[in-house]
Amino acid sequence: MTIPLSSPLENKRIRAFAHANIALAKYWGKLDGEQNLPAVPSVSVTLEALLTTTELLFDPSLRSDQLRLDGSEVQGASLARVVRLLDEARARSGSKCFARVTSANSFPTGSGLASSASGFAALAMAALGACGRPVDRAEASDMARRASASAARSVFGGFARLDAGKPGQRVLAARPLAAADHWDLRVVIAINTRLPKGVGSTEGMNHTARTSAYYDGWVQLASGVADSAQDAIARKDLQALGEAAEHSALSMHACAMAARPPLVYLQPATLACVHEVRRLREQGVGAWCTIDAGPHVKVITSPMDAKRVVERLGSLPGVLQVIESRVGPDASVEVTEA
Ligand code: DP6
Repeated sequence: MTIPLSSPLENKRIRAFAHANIALAKYWGKLDGEQNLPAVPSVSVTLEALLTTTELLFDPSLRSDQLRLDGSEVQGASLARVVRLLDEARARSGSKCFARVTSANSFPTGSGLASSASGFAALAMAALGACGRPVDRAEASDMARRASASAARSVFGGFARLDAGKPGQRVLAARPLAAADHWDLRVVIAINTRLPKGVGSTEGMNHTARTSAYYDGWVQLASGVADSAQDAIARKDLQALGEAAEHSALSMHACAMAARPPLVYLQPATLACVHEVRRLREQGVGAWCTIDAGPHVKVITSPMDAKRVVERLGSLPGVLQVIESRVGPDASVEVTEA
């Protein structure tokens, strides 16, 4: 008797949950676009307050894959990325069935708040959950990484690291550095726009690598900064982590701003937050900034100082909303028979 390696994808209702993460040492630049391998290591913290919930249903009556994100049907390049990931699940299970993906974020999508990270981490967990065996996190992280490298880190709660790729490498997963209960760090998020960003991360980092004279310098400094961030997490040293995170973020933006034409993600409200956090530090508050490919600012701080940071950032012109987050848990998946 032959025992199938995996049960078919159909007839299962899958729900996966993944939290966004914020890179404390940034990934910006690819070694290999085909395999989506990062050129630099990155270190992140997963954010409890920013959650993606994704439902996945492989349905024999469908003629193509369908994606609904925050209540709207999605086509084009975003759908194509989802289809590629679903193709991997179909290849693993031998199924040809199409799927409906319904995903919702608890925060603004596509504006630099890491929605692709939590989105693809949740989808990879769901797709492997559909394959009918217990989900291996390293496998889910590798699958998520091919869709969006920062998503590899969102499979893990707490603190995670994604190494740089090596030439010819095909498999690369993030790894957990410490669980959420290792350190009660707080991240205060200043939301400075509701609009989707103009230049997405993939395009932005490829353009930077091609045209910025500072790109080689960025790649050279990134490993040391990632190691400093990892070491600071192990020692729970907020100042060392904050300094590494600010250095990483501002170096990444300096490199992007030196691209031709320049890439400027920072808005007036972004800089207002950066300066306010400096002023807070002068007043004895332990707080440091980081900024991704958008105008929002995330501030790393302690439980003791978080309230003050929330109040001060919330009072700045251009800051629309302020969210305080704890360190978030692992991504997870629930499978029920449909
Ligand atoms: C600035 O993971 O979105 O947020 O792999 O091309 O999908 P792709 O890029 P993506 O880039 C994230 C860039 C960043 C820094 C980070 O999260 O490390």
